[in-house]
Amino acid sequence: MSSYPGDSSVKRLMAPDIAAMKGKKPIVSLTSYHAHTAAIADKYCDFLLVGDSLGMVMHGFETTVPVTLDLMIMHGKAVVRGARRALVVVDMPFGSYEESPPVAFRNAARVMKETNCGAIKLEGGRRMAETIRYLVERGVPVLAHIGLTPQSINVIGGFRAQGREVEQWDAIEEDARAVAEAGAFAVVLEAMAEPLARRVTEAVPIPTIGIGASVDCDGQILVMEDMLGLSPHVPKFVKEFGKVGEAIDNAIAAYAEEVRSRAFPALQHTYEMKRQAGSPGVGVTKKPKNSTT
Ligand code: KIV
Repeated sequence: MSSYPGDSSVKRLMAPDIAAMKGKKPIVSLTSYHAHTAAIADKYCDFLLVGDSLGMVMHGFETTVPVTLDLMIMHGKAVVRGARRALVVVDMPFGSYEESPPVAFRNAARVMKETNCGAIKLEGGRRMAETIRYLVERGVPVLAHIGLTPQSINVIGGFRAQGREVEQWDAIEEDARAVAEAGAFAVVLEAMAEPLARRVTEAVPIPTIGIGASVDCDGQILVMEDMLGLSPHVPKFVKEFGKVGEAIDNAIAAYAEEVRSRAFPALQHTYEMKRQAGSPGVGVTKKPKNSTT
C-alpha cells in the first residue's frame, strides 16, 4: 500500500500535468465509476477515466451506445468525490458531441460544471478535430480516442483490433496528428497493432495512452473491473491483476451458508436493550465488542 506524500498538501493533477509526462515516466490510468474504488485507485493513478464502458460493465448494456449524459454525470460526480489527486476525465457519450462543436461545448460544459471533473474524452480522429479545437479554445481539456472507437460499433460491425494491415496505418497516424494539432492533451489508442502504436507514439507530441496497443505507448489504461478479475469476459489485451470476482463469490457463498445455518448474525452483530431501572434484564447480557450504542 502506498500513501500520499504529505497528506494535507495533495494537489489534483490537471490536463497539462498529464501532457507534460510525455517522454518522462509512464502514465498510469484506470477507469472508475464509483467513489470508493476511485479513492483506492487515486493513490496509484495519474488520471481516472469515467468511461462510457460503465454502460456495459455496470449497467448491463451490450454496447456503450445507450449510455446517456445524465448517467455519465452521476458517475462522474461520484468519482470526483472519491479521488483527490488524480485528474478525473469524463467520457462524452454517443450522441452528445458529434452533431456540431457548439452542441459538444454545451454538453461538455454541463459535464464539467456538474461533476467538477478536469477534462472530457471523446471518440474520433480527423473527423472530430474541429470540435476538439473548439472545446479546447473555450476551456475544455480534451482526451482524444482513436483506433477502435466502441461508440461506432454499429458501423464497424464488431470490437476489432485496428491497424493490423499496413494499408490502415497512414489513416490512423493522421488521426493522431489531427487530434494533437487540434489541442488534445493526450490520446487513447485502443486495440491497435503493436508496431503502429509505436509509430504513432513517436509521431505526436502528446502522450499516447494504450489499451490493447502495446507497451510502447506513453501510458496505459484498463477497465478497472476487467483488471480486477470481476468481468466475466475480457478482451485479449486484459491482464487480470486480481481475482475479485472469485473473492465476491466466496464471500456471498459464506454469507448465504451462515444465514441458512443461523450462524449469522452472532451476538456481536446484535443490539442489546438499554437497561432501565426496575426492568427485568431483558435479552442479551454481554455487551457486544466495539458496540457504540
Ligand atoms: O469507456 C472506456 O472505458 C474507455 C476506455 C476503454 C479507454 O473509453
